[in-house]
Order: sequence, then structure tokens, then C-alpha cells
Amino acid sequence: MSDRPIGIFDSGVGGLSVWKEVVRLLPEENVIYFADSAHLPYGERSQEEVKAFSEAIVAFLVEQGAKLVVVACNTASAAALYYLRERFSIPIVGMEPAVKPAAKQTHTGKIGVIGTKVTFQGLLFKRLVERFSKDVIIHTCACPGLVEMVEEGILNGQEAEERLRDYLLPMLAEGIDVLVLGCTHYPFLRGVIEKVAGPKVKVIDPSEAVARQVKRVLEREGLRCTRTRQGEYRFYTSGSPEKLAHFLRRLLGIESPVFQVKWEGLSIKLA
Ligand code: DGL
Repeated sequence: MSDRPIGIFDSGVGGLSVWKEVVRLLPEENVIYFADSAHLPYGERSQEEVKAFSEAIVAFLVEQGAKLVVVACNTASAAALYYLRERFSIPIVGMEPAVKPAAKQTHTGKIGVIGTKVTFQGLLFKRLVERFSKDVIIHTCACPGLVEMVEEGILNGQEAEERLRDYLLPMLAEGIDVLVLGCTHYPFLRGVIEKVAGPKVKVIDPSEAVARQVKRVLEREGLRCTRTRQGEYRFYTSGSPEKLAHFLRRLLGIESPVFQVKWEGLSIKLA
């Protein structure tokens, strides 16, 4: 039993799609969230850089008392998940594109996955392809620009639709009937993604499944909190606290102070 917080991080606001499901499923848990907006987008960086940032962020979350960390970022999971599990003794829950459920649900035998370049280059995704490409054809598309659009709060409208059309039409023309959101920023674009993909394409967002995995791991490790009242939430960002506070208010209906942190080399200090 532990009242220490769960730590969740992403390159920016994307991991809040996972945060939302974690706090819905585990409302009594304390949660701290870290948005590394100073280094966004991770998907356009090298694996080594993303790994170094991820290590420093987990160290910071551990310093803040985290009992478990959720890497709420497919890109950081691709670059660092195995390493983080070796390096830290607390449980680390990561993310990978939900190819397995997509392979189960497709009727056409063709699935689409959208994510970042680093996610598609990583070992986690290579293993998924090795495992499932016997059964289904997997079409992938790295989608530069979508992450920045979400960070700016552009979640619908003409610009969003045009970009998604560019990215999705080729795989839709190939006959995919399931589309996996392989980046945690994309659930915030779900409305426009569904509009472009059309009603015959099922969109899969793994956030709920990740929250269930967090619950299972906490129970297995005897780390569930003992309190029955609502948990407390804390938010840190290496970018603009006002911007994150605005996003929290607008998209999640949360009024919360946001703490600013600063990178000093590869360590993180409270500003
Ligand atoms: N949200 C991150 C993910 O799930 C990626 C964002 C980025 O490129 O910074 O992959």
C-alpha cells in the first residue's frame, strides 16, 4: 500500500490522454504529470536524445516520490522503455501502438498505424511487425506537424482536416478498416480523424488499456493507495506553465497550478 503518487510523462500535452484514463480508473491515486514541452517534438529527434531526456524525467519523478511511472509517449517508450526498466527499480508502464487489438478486429486484413518516425524505427514496433505481419498488412504513416498542432490547441477545422487527409488517404485507399493512434497526442484529434477516415474505419486509442495495466501493476506490486478520497494532481512543464494551464482548463476542465521546471544539461530543476 502506498500513498505516493503515480508519475506520468510525455513530450508535451499528449500524455494527458492517458492521464485522463488513469485518473478516471483510479480516482483516489495522487498523480504527477510532466510535460517536456521544451524538447518537443520527440518524434523528430534521435533515439539517443529521447532516451537521455526520458531517463532524466524518470529520475525527477522518482525524486518527487513516484511509486510507478507511466511513459505516456509512444516515442519515448520506443527509444527508452527497456533501458528505463533496467535503470530504475520502480515499475515502469510503457506504450506501444495497439497492433494486437487492431489485428483482431480487422475484417479486410489491413490496418493503419499513425505515429512518429522514432516510434516506427524502434525495437518495440519492429517486434510488433514481426509478430503480426503474417496475419495482417500493416500500413504506417509518420505524421509530422500533428503533435505541434495539438500543442497549439488546433484540434479541428480546415488545417487539421487537410493535414489528416494527406496522411490518411493513401492508407484508406489501400483498404484499411482499423486505424491505430500510435501517438498520445492524436486522441485529441479523434473527431477530425474519424471524420476523414469515415464510419467504416474503427479508430483504436490504447489509453484505457494502459490505465488498466497501471491498475494491474499497482495491485500486483501491493502499491495501491489506501485513501478513499479524491487524489491530488500536480503538473510540471519545461515549457510555458500558462499554456499548459490553459490546455488543462479547456480540454480537461481542470483548474490547477502548473509548476515550471528548467533543464540544466541533463538534469531537471524546479524553477
Ligand atoms: N506524444 C508522443 C507519442 O506518443 C510524441 C510526441 C512528439 O513527437 O513529441 O509518441
